[in-house]
Amino acid sequence: MSADGLTAEKEEFWLFGYGSLIWKPPPHFDQRVPGYVTGYVRRFWQVGRYQDHRGTPEAPGRVVTLIERSFWETLDDHHPSGSDRVWGTAYRIQPDKVAEVRDYLDIREINGYTVHYTDFHPADGSPVIKTLVYIGTPDNEQFMGPQDPQKLAEHIYTSVGPSGPNKDYLLCLEAALDGLSPESGDGHITDLASRLRGIEKRLEPVPSPDQEAIERELEKRESIDGLEETEKRGL
Ligand code: BEZ
Repeated sequence: MSADGLTAEKEEFWLFGYGSLIWKPPPHFDQRVPGYVTGYVRRFWQVGRYQDHRGTPEAPGRVVTLIERSFWETLDDHHPSGSDRVWGTAYRIQPDKVAEVRDYLDIREINGYTVHYTDFHPADGSPVIKTLVYIGTPDNEQFMGPQDPQKLAEHIYTSVGPSGPNKDYLLCLEAALDGLSPESGDGHITDLASRLRGIEKRLEPVPSPDQEAIERELEKRESIDGLEETEKRGL
């Protein structure tokens, strides 16, 4: 295996997805394997690219990156990190499509993210796979560092761009992680998602009892009018 995740004889190329790649796979994969990497912490600390990540150029949304655990331990984070595992999905790309997929990924993922390589542990205990992974390291301009979780959830709630609401990215990630394994939850993600649901509950309009009574009365009138009309026509 060479350093870039390609096995010389077999031309194997494996990619690790820990964000949107979990539920939006790359093209031309022929194997999809749930599992985890170690030595990192996943955080919603990267400013999103507005075309893909549900914000606008003036108010970009937030997306996830990986932070080396040894560096993360020096930071003042609001969320503890219980597990040393970051769950996600590894994809094997068809050998004849590797160059095409790498071009596609370079276009799709560029946004302060750079290419790294890491050992991936399949959930079923099969041998470790060397994977390529895109990481927004702390020296990139879009890296934000520790965020107040409530403010971060509010920011995600309010960011909307051409590809949809930023909150969908968070909620899809939470659901996709739940689907990988009984152990694949991530406390940072579930806390942000439950804060987001709390914000939605507080801010989304609930019809007042008066409004509901008016609507019921209008429905009643409509059905009485309908009956009278039918009787008039002698039907
Ligand atoms: C991911 O899903 O792993 C990912 C997506 C975009 C940039 C970096 C990582």
